[in-house]
Amino acid sequence: MAVFWRRTYRLLLLGQKHQSCISSHVICHTENLNQIVRNSLHLSTLVSFHRVMTDQPPILTDLGLYNHPPAVRGMTELDKAAFTQTVNVPALRVPTNVLNKVVKSLKKVVLQRPGIKRVLEENNKDGSSQVIMDKNPGITCVVNKTNTIDSTYRNFQMEVLAGEDNMVAKVRENGMFYEFDFSRVYWNPRLGTEHERIVSFLQRGDIVIDVFAGVGPFAIPAARRGCNILANDLNPESFRWLQHNGKLNKVDKKITSFNMDGRDFIRGPVKERLPALMKGSQKLHVVMNLPALALEFLDAFRDLLEPDQSLSCQDNLPQVHCYGFSKEDDPQRDIVVRAEASLKTSLQGQCSVHMVRNVSPNKEMMCASFTLPKKVLYRQHTEDRDSSEEPCPKKQKCEEQTD
Ligand SMILES: C[S@@+](CC[C@H](N)C(=O)[O-])C[C@H]1O[C@@H](n2cnc3c(N)ncnc32)[C@H](O)[C@@H]1O
Repeated sequence: MAVFWRRTYRLLLLGQKHQSCISSHVICHTENLNQIVRNSLHLSTLVSFHRVMTDQPPILTDLGLYNHPPAVRGMTELDKAAFTQTVNVPALRVPTNVLNKVVKSLKKVVLQRPGIKRVLEENNKDGSSQVIMDKNPGITCVVNKTNTIDSTYRNFQMEVLAGEDNMVAKVRENGMFYEFDFSRVYWNPRLGTEHERIVSFLQRGDIVIDVFAGVGPFAIPAARRGCNILANDLNPESFRWLQHNGKLNKVDKKITSFNMDGRDFIRGPVKERLPALMKGSQKLHVVMNLPALALEFLDAFRDLLEPDQSLSCQDNLPQVHCYGFSKEDDPQRDIVVRAEASLKTSLQGQCSVHMVRNVSPNKEMMCASFTLPKKVLYRQHTEDRDSSEEPCPKKQKCEEQTD
């Protein structure tokens, strides 16, 4: 099993002469002392070169660092490397959430050298990843995220910090097991609650159409609940692991899987099956979890079905759960407005929005749930469009029946 090592610590470099007073200073000034450990760091720097080139007095004049290395005496052509010195400076390993407080309280003792950062990302290849492995016998590999999640398939690039270079992981979520190659597919353990929330809406026999299924965290538990699933993912690796996980959890017979673009999936296999599915009494749910783009994919439902495929107003219209990120002050409103723009219709009063999680300080992940409006799903004749607000005779009849 592979685990993620998150960069939740920073190294705060201190002036060398303060090495001996770190502990007492920290005791006086930080609340989270027990999380702070002393570290040492090798620092290569051009301090002497800086002094030669700028003729600036150094800010700290400790330990002869500003003396020229003897080898540069008589140099006629600049060789920067010859000015490099390796020095040990004390460093504090500080949890990121208290970093500002600690930097403030240690203002007088932090390293102050021109051109050198005093706060560094921690170099995780320092043995801490090995400790994680040693303390957790189930973990065979510790990795570090090296990019943000912006690839089409939403997977991360990673570097191995410790253990074997094998990112095939086995995880458990909401009682289901999943196996996948972490470096090649999307997996986010923070979505467990959201997967569970959606699955809790489902009844035995319901149909779930999962447009961006990944390795199956909606599809697999929904199938276990007795639903029939159409699951799709563009990433061939996700598709492969989705099928594998269906078998692993013994629900493969309930899942029909596809490996195509989400829009093609809606306009192909979904369109083909929808009229028959909507005639049944079972509910239909469409899950669209690709928050960066899913709202834009809603346009694929516009005019999907021919008017004569509309058999009765009892039709079981699909319930859509579509995810989106928002950085707006009113994320609820933003998500609805963007869904409406894609569908080209108003969802006023028909759409509930759930806040899934706070992704970063000003970025929320939201889920908009609504019944797909009939006038969006069915292509309308031009004259129908003009009078689309008028209730059709069938609709009137249905409303009468519910009275
Ligand atoms: C954010 S992940 C969600 C996966 C899973 N539903 C979950 O909740 O963990 C989005 C998935 O959409 C897939 N994807 C990206 N672009 C796609 C597209 N155009 N059509 C279909 N799937 C796509 C990615 O490969 C990825 O597995």
